Amino acid sequence: MTETSENHGALTGDNHAALWSGRFAEGPDAAAVEFETSIRVDERMALDDIHGSIAHAQMLGEQKIIPKQEAAEIVKGLKSIEADLISGALKIDYSAEDIHSFVEAVLTDRIGEPGKKLHTGRSRNDQIALDERLYLRRVIPCIQNEIITLVKTLAEIASANKTSLLTGYTHMQHAQPGTLAQHLLAWAFMLVRDWERLEDSLGRIQKSPLGSGALQGSTLPLNREFAAKKLGFTGVTENSLDTVSDRDYCIEFVSDFSILQSHLSRMCEEIVLWSTTEFSFVELSEKWSTGSSIMPQKKNPDFAELIRGRTGKVYGDLINLLTMVKGLPLAYDRDLQEDKEPLFDALDTVEANLKVFTAMISSAKWNKEKMAASCEGGFANATDLAEYLVRKGMPFRTAHGVSAKAVRMAIDAGLSKIEDLCVEEFKECSPLIEEDVYEILSPEACAENRKTTGAPSSVSTSEQIKNILAFCRKNKKK
Ligand code: ARG
Repeated sequence: MTETSENHGALTGDNHAALWSGRFAEGPDAAAVEFETSIRVDERMALDDIHGSIAHAQMLGEQKIIPKQEAAEIVKGLKSIEADLISGALKIDYSAEDIHSFVEAVLTDRIGEPGKKLHTGRSRNDQIALDERLYLRRVIPCIQNEIITLVKTLAEIASANKTSLLTGYTHMQHAQPGTLAQHLLAWAFMLVRDWERLEDSLGRIQKSPLGSGALQGSTLPLNREFAAKKLGFTGVTENSLDTVSDRDYCIEFVSDFSILQSHLSRMCEEIVLWSTTEFSFVELSEKWSTGSSIMPQKKNPDFAELIRGRTGKVYGDLINLLTMVKGLPLAYDRDLQEDKEPLFDALDTVEANLKVFTAMISSAKWNKEKMAASCEGGFANATDLAEYLVRKGMPFRTAHGVSAKAVRMAIDAGLSKIEDLCVEEFKECSPLIEEDVYEILSPEACAENRKTTGAPSSVSTSEQIKNILAFCRKNKKK
């Protein structure tokens, strides 16, 4: 018990007064405490808070700001708290104001007077900025690994479907034939960019905020670089006022998550569409489908819909954060405490969505016949006819007109494919067209003849798969 805790025991439960209670003659209203406390949200950073405190205590000892012996006692005490939190022997006291207060109070209970020296030269303002960075540095690689698992899964399905035909759409109209491999690899490359964005954002939280104090640093001879090095940072932040006001990194990660979520949502939209009776390109496993309470026949793609539906949460989290900082004067304002809920919500949402999407897609069955049939009709090979004429020397614009004429002729004759025209009819469109035209008009040929880098031919998709698997191998984190 501290001297001040007698007055304000009610503030933080039976054992601990608020860290700031000394100046107050009266304890706050119970409803006020309830309103401002954040421990149920920030408790997930408990271990990060302890790691930050250990480095801070070591620095204080190293600089002789506190006796080395006492620094060692603090470190020992903090390590015992860490061990007990991990084992479950120590439970979080939810009457504490926040995770920082909780750890400091338990420390002081355990080691007595030296515990009161831990907060020397530190404020919760630089402490929270540190905890968040340590936490993000720990969990973002887990999200990145989930992305890699999904990318790898997509590459594996692609690998087994290099020649599985699937029409490509623009404006949701048949455009040009392609393959399932090409389509799934498109998803995979969207996700690779998401991984890279997270990596870029991680690069910007590699500087330690510790030692910025409440806002203007400290009069004590802190060695910020020492603590930063202990914590594995590459350096220290450069301006204390900026450091305690900055929540760019939260906004940045949640905007990375928003883009990632937009990708998952688009992918889910295609899954929902493709699992309709009309499309039937894919059949989701029963494990990852749900039924209806009234319609006995139903098998619904609810998981894809839920992933798509939760996009709004993540976008909302981003708007929440952007609005939180808008108009905030420097330096720390309590508004900034509200950063954690949207940050953690976005993080938890994308993590769950990535896991569920991976499970759903790896257990899905692809209907090759239906996908191949999608390439029939719709005249998706009209570009191929134009390029055939280009190879025979015709200017593309003219060839476009000739191919359009063939399409028109087929429609007028009630045919569903240009290859149903006979050579004589083709020759009416252009004398350059010969018997060999039929070889380039089949959907297989249309997909296979597209050999440019990044195109759907099996050589091109093999190259994509090779590169993407190399990316996965190189970037999987421990
Ligand atoms: N719980 C606070 C937060 O998350 C910690 C910093 C509190 N600082 C203060 N001046 N009240 O932002």
